[in-house]
Amino acid sequence: MEPSPLSPDHDQENSCPQISPGEQHTDTLFVQARHTVVALGSMLAYTFRSPVESYHGFAPTLHELTMGLMGSSFQPDRDIVDLTGKVIFVTGGNTGLGKEAILQLARHGPSRIYMGARDERKARDAITSIQSTLSSSVDIRHLPLDLSSFDSIRTASEIFTSECDRLDILMLNAGTLGNQAVTTEAGHEIQFGTNHVGHFLLAKLLLPTLLNTAALSPSPDVRVVTLASTASGTSPPFDIMTSATRLMAETTLHRYAASKAANILFASELARRHPNIMSVSVHPGVVKSDLYDRATTSPVLRYPLQIIGLAMRSVRTGALNQLWAAGADRELLENGAYYTPIGVIWRNNQYVVDVALGKKLWDWTDAEVRKFGF
Ligand SMILES: NC(=O)c1ccc[n+]([C@@H]2O[C@H](COP(=O)([O-])OP(=O)(O)OC[C@H]3O[C@@H](n4cnc5c(N)ncnc54)[C@H](OP(=O)(O)O)[C@@H]3O)[C@@H](O)[C@H]2O)c1
Repeated sequence: MEPSPLSPDHDQENSCPQISPGEQHTDTLFVQARHTVVALGSMLAYTFRSPVESYHGFAPTLHELTMGLMGSSFQPDRDIVDLTGKVIFVTGGNTGLGKEAILQLARHGPSRIYMGARDERKARDAITSIQSTLSSSVDIRHLPLDLSSFDSIRTASEIFTSECDRLDILMLNAGTLGNQAVTTEAGHEIQFGTNHVGHFLLAKLLLPTLLNTAALSPSPDVRVVTLASTASGTSPPFDIMTSATRLMAETTLHRYAASKAANILFASELARRHPNIMSVSVHPGVVKSDLYDRATTSPVLRYPLQIIGLAMRSVRTGALNQLWAAGADRELLENGAYYTPIGVIWRNNQYVVDVALGKKLWDWTDAEVRKFGF
């Protein structure tokens, strides 16, 4: 009998012997405490190794710090280019940074915005709340999308392509952090599977539409903006990243870091493979959103996160970097680059410069989704 597309004959490397897909595994307090110390220790070490990049995560931008005298300011109302006729797709648009991005982009006249979200009610509420702030209604549609499910991604891309023959801005924004060691339906660690593999598959299925849109113009402006993080600096290496079993043995924050490193590698590799598409990754800063809710249910992570929370950016200012990448004049962006807030380029980021690793991860991820017929 043919294996079901979502019950792959996973090899030993990618299967997770102790924890089957969807099963919840709860660490003991002692394990959580040890993991927290290890994770926060490695983040602190990264901060010392890369102080300026880390500074951009929390602190005011140079422009804010010098009360407008230095650095560049970015104001969505003033600086986002005219989006008339453009189609936009934002994943995880029902809350946090994705919702704020949709709200700001909607003010610049796009013909349609798709909000990829897995929860119908949350998506409807978010669309109602966004529409209520706009001076005239914009065509914002909920597209059911669960990035931890290949079936859901396939259906979402089929609905999208049946309704739209162009896509100008794809914002790969959805993300999850602080999860227990569980896998997606396809057998990938949940954070890596959602944040990276799910987005890879979605982008793969939408790529023909992105390329067709770029081909319509002699000076195309088609963008893919991927939400990454400075947390990527603490990612385990490729061999662990791509082995569900080994990744599940890492702390939850290191598993998240692996997904964010993969986001940067993906964005840079997409730019190399398809230079007609402007593909960049952005760190939004450390932002007070729902992202940390799951992590704060852990008694050991709760207090460190509450302290860090005192210095977090608001969702409004946190969304500025992805809005800059999606909406600022195209000439300001460099294809394949990684940016911290706002529009600060990091040419030497280890995942941007490692061309061989970018190719290796792309090929690995493509082979993973091909196992399911994509
Ligand atoms: N906040 C920060 O400090 C920070 C720092 C660095 C990078 N980032 C990145 O910024 C992005 C946005 O995060 P945020 O701060 O806005 O977090 P958030 O408020 O928690 O929003 C995350 C969004 O992702 C969606 N999502 C999660 N799992 C999903 C799945 N399986 N399928 C579809 N959608 C899913 C959530 O939907 P539900 O509402 O249904 O859960 C929500 O809409 C993420 O990629 C995150 O990694 C954030």
